[in-house]
Amino acid sequence: MIIDGKKVASEIYEELKKEVSNLSEKVYLKAILVGNNEDSIRYINQKKKWAEYLWIDFELFHYEENFDEQELLNKIEWLNDDKKTHWFIVQLPLPKHIDTAKVINAIKPEKDVDWFTKQNFWKLAIWDSSFLASCTPTWIMTLLEKYNIDVTWKDVVVIWRSNIVGKPLSLMMLNNSATITTCHSRTKDISYYTKKADIVCVAIWKPWFLTLDMINKNTIVIDVWFTVRDWKIYWDADFETINNNWNMITPVPGGVWAMTVAMLMQNTLKAYNIQNEK
Ligand code: GUN
Repeated sequence: MIIDGKKVASEIYEELKKEVSNLSEKVYLKAILVGNNEDSIRYINQKKKWAEYLWIDFELFHYEENFDEQELLNKIEWLNDDKKTHWFIVQLPLPKHIDTAKVINAIKPEKDVDWFTKQNFWKLAIWDSSFLASCTPTWIMTLLEKYNIDVTWKDVVVIWRSNIVGKPLSLMMLNNSATITTCHSRTKDISYYTKKADIVCVAIWKPWFLTLDMINKNTIVIDVWFTVRDWKIYWDADFETINNNWNMITPVPGGVWAMTVAMLMQNTLKAYNIQNEK
């Protein structure tokens, strides 16, 4: 059975559209993109498209691959102080000559709608009740909730420990009373954990990494990433075999991007409401 991320995302967009139409002022969301990574460009185009659909004012600052780190930090400082920027994002990955952690942590936490800065990550770790959270882990939790899958008591395996997906997702699962195993490149035998798991979230960026023999017949598979090679899409999970058998699985890629962008827009409005309550 397929967990339909695209359908859930379109329901969320309709709810958000109503919410935005009731606001008395414009919401501003800005984005910085450095370089011409094809996935990032596609991703940013989706963000722009959906922001415009919701009447959120979206502006992109797109720089060349060799853009200087200090100039980028200056731009961030400018956006931090700019009254017409409610929130902004720096699209990842950044080119290799730029220190990603330094750049991300230069963003004012109040304007970090991706929830990537140290301060915001900390709020997630201590489960501050007002928190937003980064978009990819949030869509996974939202999708499970929409399909009435309660993670309490469940054994959940997260494959990969990145700062933007694996770690925050593991924390969110833990905050919701799941029992978590986070696997990574130094895990001895990943299938030892996945075979016993109720839910496996795979975000490793390796084609067909998760195969049918690594799970059990009830495992719910959330396939987070996919890779495009020679115009062909390869999922992290062996999507067709798993889906042709008995397991629930997320649809990729449509569902993934639709949900991630929907969560960014949802975060933008939540952040707007939090700021206005103050
Ligand atoms: N690159 C991949 N996913 C994301 C995301 O959610 N936010 C940003 N800023 N960059 C990304």
